[in-house]
Amino acid sequence: MVRSVISILDLSVEEINKLLDRADDIIANPAKYSEVCRGKKLATLFFEPSTRTRLSFEAAMYELGGHVLGFSDAGSSSATKGESVADTTKMVSCYADIIAMRHPKEGAPLVSSMHSSIPVINAGDGGHNHPTQTLTDLLTIRRKKGRLNNFTIGFCGDLKFGRTVHSLIQALSRYAGIKIVLISPDELKLPSYVKKDVLQKQGIEYVQTTDLEEVLPELDVLYMTRVQKERFLSEEEYIRLRDSYILTRAKLVKNAKEDLIVLHPLPRVNEISTDVDDDPRACYFEQALCGKYVRMSLIMELLGLNAD
Ligand code: NCD
Repeated sequence: MVRSVISILDLSVEEINKLLDRADDIIANPAKYSEVCRGKKLATLFFEPSTRTRLSFEAAMYELGGHVLGFSDAGSSSATKGESVADTTKMVSCYADIIAMRHPKEGAPLVSSMHSSIPVINAGDGGHNHPTQTLTDLLTIRRKKGRLNNFTIGFCGDLKFGRTVHSLIQALSRYAGIKIVLISPDELKLPSYVKKDVLQKQGIEYVQTTDLEEVLPELDVLYMTRVQKERFLSEEEYIRLRDSYILTRAKLVKNAKEDLIVLHPLPRVNEISTDVDDDPRACYFEQALCGKYVRMSLIMELLGLNAD
């Protein structure tokens, strides 16, 4: 059976560390990798909007010397005619060597992988998982902090629907000495399945709070998130909650450690004021760049390719 990545837990810690090592090497020696995927095709099947994830997958494949085909809007695909994910996958398997799929339905990339003769990468499924964003986050933390253990990370915002949060918590729960601070309104707390199956099962130290400023001084990493408008059933509820947290430069200056790093998977709406962007602690645009390199590394891994 071909290897797919649907959840970050499909990769062992050793494999993740190896993928990050290679991403570092790609950053240092890009020319070495420029022909690795020559003749290979990546299909990007995006049934839900995306800017960074899709473009970074595409840029990744181009920088490896490969080609890209696909769609960025479910409306322009045969999904509108009622085609199933299974059938779309079987057909795309005839045209491409690897698939990156984003879908509003949780589990759709898993279904795709079960019908695929080529590797499938989950590029975000509903409010569930987003493993390649997690690789991006891990690479950014490791490059900035020099380690993936022994730090306190705060997750702030929409912890209920934020798939990037769920996947990063799963990943970090396998490293030592990680303390997690969950900062959200009561309505957007981390789902209990993540608390039970990940945090409690792995014995991870965590606290829940609604107050960002109170916990800010303790944090080594702050992971801000957007309130996930598209997952709300009521527009009114979204409007009530969307500005629950706004990180400003003044709050950072007053409360945060000098070596804090502020991450955000992006897109940002209001939750980080633009006056934070020039602060050396703001790392979210570098984080977006890291996304391209980890995706290059992952594509190579799943296609069984090496640069040497
Ligand atoms: C995230 C996503 O799609 O889950 N974006 C991304 O992939 N960089 C976060 C978000 O949309 O808020």
